[in-house]
Amino acid sequence: MMIGDDVSNCIMGKNGVMGKWVIGNWKMNPATSAEAITLANALKAIDTKATKAVNVGCTPNFIHLAMVAQQLGGSSIWVGAQDVCGHTQAVGAFTGDVSAHQLSNVGVRFVLIGHSERRTYHHESNQVLSHKLTQALKADLAVVLCVGESQADYQAGHTLAVLDAQLAVLQDLDITAKQLLVAYEPVWAIGTGLTPSLSEIELAHRHIKNTLSAQDIKGACVLYGGSVNETNAVKFAQSQWIDGVLVGGASLKIDSFTTIITAFADTVG
Ligand code: PGA
Repeated sequence: MMIGDDVSNCIMGKNGVMGKWVIGNWKMNPATSAEAITLANALKAIDTKATKAVNVGCTPNFIHLAMVAQQLGGSSIWVGAQDVCGHTQAVGAFTGDVSAHQLSNVGVRFVLIGHSERRTYHHESNQVLSHKLTQALKADLAVVLCVGESQADYQAGHTLAVLDAQLAVLQDLDITAKQLLVAYEPVWAIGTGLTPSLSEIELAHRHIKNTLSAQDIKGACVLYGGSVNETNAVKFAQSQWIDGVLVGGASLKIDSFTTIITAFADTVG
């Protein structure tokens, strides 16, 4: 057995749950509060057998977050944020920021960190991400660290080197697999309809798991993200190297999202 070939320890946050993960990244959607409530209610309605077998999450943007968290209170759906303040976990003079404590206070349980759209449009470096990780962990929020290579790096065969450089952000942190999911999201696969082949994804996931194991983070879950839809989800769900998916566009269409959840639920029995 290679290092990291251990069984995934899919436990996240203080109320640790095991299993596969299907998380919707709503990004800067939907346009209105009414639509966000409709989406939350639809999610709540599918919080039945299928979602019990799979950990389901969504990440509304800040304007909708507290409202959606309240709406989903009492359900098993995990509500996460798309960003967190890196300067303090508490309160203070940080215009435009939202702290980990404030997120936790409204029922948020995890935060996305390092999504490629944050890295690209907000120039978030490993140093910035390290501060955000630190503050999230202090407030006992779990984190979904997003990593992935650009198209140029993919074409040059640099995928694994890029992943190593991005995962290095975890090196000096006191973090365990229970607080962490890693989402492998090739930048060129996000919102394009393109995906790597299954074997390329499995290779990347295996590499991520081995790298984390070598950093003493054993058994962290690795999700795939980038153009996941109701059709390709079936093969992703069947792979022993894919612990779940981070879904953008298809998470806004409740029928598609439900089909993706069901694909994963079918594999956990
Ligand atoms: P997509 O986005 O599913 O629309 O490609 C995924 C993501 O950015 O997390």
